[in-house]
Amino acid sequence: MASHNLFLLPGDGIGPEVMAEVEAIISWMDAMGIAKFRTDRGLVGGCAYDAHGKAISEEDMEKAQGADAVLFGAVGGPRWDKVAYVHRPEAGLLRLRKDLGLFANLRPAICYPALAEASSLKRELVDGLDILIVRELTGGVYFGEPKTITDLGNGQKRAIDTQIYDTYEIERIARVAFELARTRKNRVASAEKRNVMKTGVLWNEVVTRIQAENYSDVALEHVLADNCAMQLVRWPKQYDVIVTDNLFGDILSDVAAMLTGSLGMLPSASLGAEDPKTKRRKALYEPVHGSAPDIAGKALANPIAMIASFGMCLRYSFGLIDWADNVDTAIANVLAKGVRTKDIAAKDEKTVTTKEMGAAILEELKQLA
Ligand code: IPM
Ligand code: MG
Repeated sequence: MASHNLFLLPGDGIGPEVMAEVEAIISWMDAMGIAKFRTDRGLVGGCAYDAHGKAISEEDMEKAQGADAVLFGAVGGPRWDKVAYVHRPEAGLLRLRKDLGLFANLRPAICYPALAEASSLKRELVDGLDILIVRELTGGVYFGEPKTITDLGNGQKRAIDTQIYDTYEIERIARVAFELARTRKNRVASAEKRNVMKTGVLWNEVVTRIQAENYSDVALEHVLADNCAMQLVRWPKQYDVIVTDNLFGDILSDVAAMLTGSLGMLPSASLGAEDPKTKRRKALYEPVHGSAPDIAGKALANPIAMIASFGMCLRYSFGLIDWADNVDTAIANVLAKGVRTKDIAAKDEKTVTTKEMGAAILEELKQLA
């Protein structure tokens, strides 16, 4: 059996705590002979800065480049607020995305029936919700140059961020969205701000053309990004796949996360282009929630987003579709049984620790095996 090389970057805050629950699942799958994994681990974010003076070392970048997939926890925390901008913890994550060419970020927001009460929205709005945000991840204002703060010398400073998109960047993310829509409800909503931004005008034009040329079987709707945010809290079930740029995708996916009950529920996959020879894609899997320094080290973190991200890894990197489905089913079953970490518990509901939630999901997986 070929072994899958996984590079683990637990990072800061609750990252290592939620990663430990995935490692337990990996060890079990390995021991059961379900799949063979070889894992290595590195440092990213604040912990890498403490060790190497930068948010990720060259050695760890090389390991990430060579791995079949990277599992990423979270980065950042108040401890590193004063670190120089180029070395801030987030720089490690952004470099991984950029250098590995991970342009397609898939963020599925699924509201498990058992959690419909945990959402800040009414049950009927979110019960059964299943949307997929496809966020462009290596372009736009995150990486555009110039990106500067200049002292104007008159007591004023000027800050500049640059939003740039080339045709090919929009084409390839649009294709990913249309392809994925075909495996779902066959609908894509493309969100931009063509009423204010030139990048929005080009985005709209390119997505329209790609649909007309290759995906006329998929229904396409254009929506202004601000309106999309409003629609997401008004009637989110109107959407199937939402494709959008890097910054709007960042914001809209946080909105979508809360529809599911908690930021602790949202996994993500970041994929590169398919290698024509090996048919493989570079890939990184991470929970959307971030390092949550306020609850780090208190056993309060919800490991579901991290475990579901590993599920996406089984699906998209290793083709272990049955096991990816099992991971999703195990999560759903555990939630249906009423197991809750604090973030998804109703007011007087009993709560479990990070480890207990991880163990409950592993127990379900054993039942499904
Ligand atoms: C996300 C995060 C990151 C982003 C941060 C940590 C740089 O918010 O993945 O959504 O803005 O992309
Ligand atoms: Mg974000």
